[in-house]
Amino acid sequence: MKLIGLLILAYLLGAIPNGVWVGKAFFGTDIRQSGSGNIGTTNTYRVLGPYAGTAVMVLDIAKGSVATLLPTLGHVTTFLGTATPLLFGLFAILGHTVSIFDHFKGGKAVATSAGMLLAYNPLMFVIAAGLWVSLIYWTSMVSLASMIAFSLITLISLAFQDWYLTGIALVLTIFVFYRHRTNIRRIREGTESMVPFGRGYRN
Ligand code: G3P
Repeated sequence: MKLIGLLILAYLLGAIPNGVWVGKAFFGTDIRQSGSGNIGTTNTYRVLGPYAGTAVMVLDIAKGSVATLLPTLGHVTTFLGTATPLLFGLFAILGHTVSIFDHFKGGKAVATSAGMLLAYNPLMFVIAAGLWVSLIYWTSMVSLASMIAFSLITLISLAFQDWYLTGIALVLTIFVFYRHRTNIRRIREGTESMVPFGRGYRN
């Protein structure tokens, strides 16, 4: 019973649409109506600026981390043993992408997945964050950087010999590519929007 309650809590934490609520509360703007229409960090940055974008990134990472820590805080475990936190992280990612607070729509799972990684394997999080920032520098496209970073993290996770982590990283990579399918189309057409940062940027 406690396990089910905490899994529901993980889902509800993940379902908090920080981008939508920050935009509406502080800017009177619904970011779903502007830019890419996504509720994540990149579109918040694009529509509302760097402070709002940073706040949403921190909040989206935090909800993934807190959800992942729930089984430790609540002293519950499952048949997954030490990988139980990943199950809670997945429930948060489910909440973020199929949110009860956003008509069962949601974001692209990048920052919430990063939050899960931060709570589960902080070293991998640091590697992932370094890769992601470097890839944004090289491409100036957050979408492309995110997809490449997820792919590389799946490969790098092999070094940790944590097969649950590698399996979930692989599933999330496939899912992240699926959620970025409109970005992939724009990248192929040469119309994907860029951040004003790095070598790839052009006006
Ligand atoms: O975090 C999602 C990012 O990878 C792409 O966002 O708004 O450019 O579709 P966006």
